[in-house]
Amino acid sequence: MARIQYAERAMPLMSGLRRRFVSERPFDGLSIAACLHVTAETAVLVRSLRAGGARVSLAASNPLSTQDDIAQALQSDGIDVHARAGVDRKTYYQHIAAALNDGADLIVDDGGDLVSTVHTTGKPGVRGGCESTTTGVIRLRRMAADGALAFPMIAANDTPAKRMLDNVCGTGQSVIDGILRATNTLLAGKTVVIAGFGACGAGIAARAAGLGSRVIVTEVDPVRALDASLRGFPVLPMAEAAPVGEVFISATGSVDVIGAEHVAVMRDGAILANAGHFDAEIDVRALETAAVAVHSDARPHVDAYELADGRRLLLLAEGRVVNLVAAEGHPPEVMDLAFGILALSLAWLATNAGKLCADVHPVPPELDAEAAGLTLAAMGVRIDTLTEAQREYLDSWRIGS
Ligand SMILES: NC(=O)c1ccc[n+]([C@@H]2O[C@H](COP(=O)([O-])OP(=O)(O)OC[C@H]3O[C@@H](n4cnc5c(N)ncnc54)[C@H](O)[C@@H]3O)[C@@H](O)[C@H]2O)c1
Repeated sequence: MARIQYAERAMPLMSGLRRRFVSERPFDGLSIAACLHVTAETAVLVRSLRAGGARVSLAASNPLSTQDDIAQALQSDGIDVHARAGVDRKTYYQHIAAALNDGADLIVDDGGDLVSTVHTTGKPGVRGGCESTTTGVIRLRRMAADGALAFPMIAANDTPAKRMLDNVCGTGQSVIDGILRATNTLLAGKTVVIAGFGACGAGIAARAAGLGSRVIVTEVDPVRALDASLRGFPVLPMAEAAPVGEVFISATGSVDVIGAEHVAVMRDGAILANAGHFDAEIDVRALETAAVAVHSDARPHVDAYELADGRRLLLLAEGRVVNLVAAEGHPPEVMDLAFGILALSLAWLATNAGKLCADVHPVPPELDAEAAGLTLAAMGVRIDTLTEAQREYLDSWRIGS
């Protein structure tokens, strides 16, 4: 399919890994169940895993983010796909369970719904897996702390290279892309309130500021709030930001960050978008309760909640990840590195899972460095190498000034 090939041409790391997998066959005889946003870039990952010998089944990691044409293309390629855009919650979980039906040796998750389904439905045989987003890693750590995690999981989200390119650059750009595609609004001169100044929030803030927005940050973590302040962004409690913001973007991984008390004081025409993994950050029920009518006919992915006093608040993508619902998710260059780290970690797990305990493990640092190095090479960027004297100096505690 042309769109998958288009993405693949911008994914040199995955193309190289696919060639390597064809000769090394790291997944021979293994089944991999994946729960990921079904996009052209995911198709490139799935094909690479299959080229390495895996039998792959795929479910969506969000009920609204599936690109149906990509799902169909993968299906006609013989991949076991269980995903359709716009399914209800029950069907969403049925799809995830179906991806596990024939058993899985390894899993790939994005948000933790596949892992929790494995554990709640008691599917045996999983040897380990990888998690690709912050919210999923947080859920895994809670499972491990409860003693509930039954196999090792690698926190592919947490490598420095992945967070830099994916959470900061990818989310930063594609969330703005989603908001613009949905609304066609002008961001220059607008007050944009960003809830959460983690990797994603910092990326979105930088790009909104670059487009001429006045960016305000809300935070609960003093270090992150200090970081935002030192970069020149005013930091306010949401209660004070709510009446002045014109665009609100949540990127916290938390719940009810924008609630009824904020809806009550927001300006007419305020735009509400979520970048966090789950649709829990904007309290949509509070909007529904406050509204006398909802108008959805003006533009796709824009629901105008009309309040009793005549104000209209515009909720994008039903409060779900706006970059994946109203746009196409991250650019392929971003997913190249993120999926490259995932694919390398899976290949490593295929031989090493048995040596790991049932816990959350970091990506082996050499794999992160390898993925970053291959990405740099594809970008044509060269770097220096430590000299022997420099290595000796850095390795020694005896040498001072
Ligand atoms: N849309 C995407 O494509 C995409 C990509 C990567 C990650 N994510 C998701 O985005 C979310 C954020 O990811 P991240 O990597 O930036 O996480 P992070 O942990 O680096 O940052 C989250 C920040 O939100 C802050 N926060 C928490 N509760 C808050 C509240 N009530 N008000 C204000 N701030 C609050 C935290 O202090 C933290 O600084 C996660 O759900 C993650 O899974 C989405």
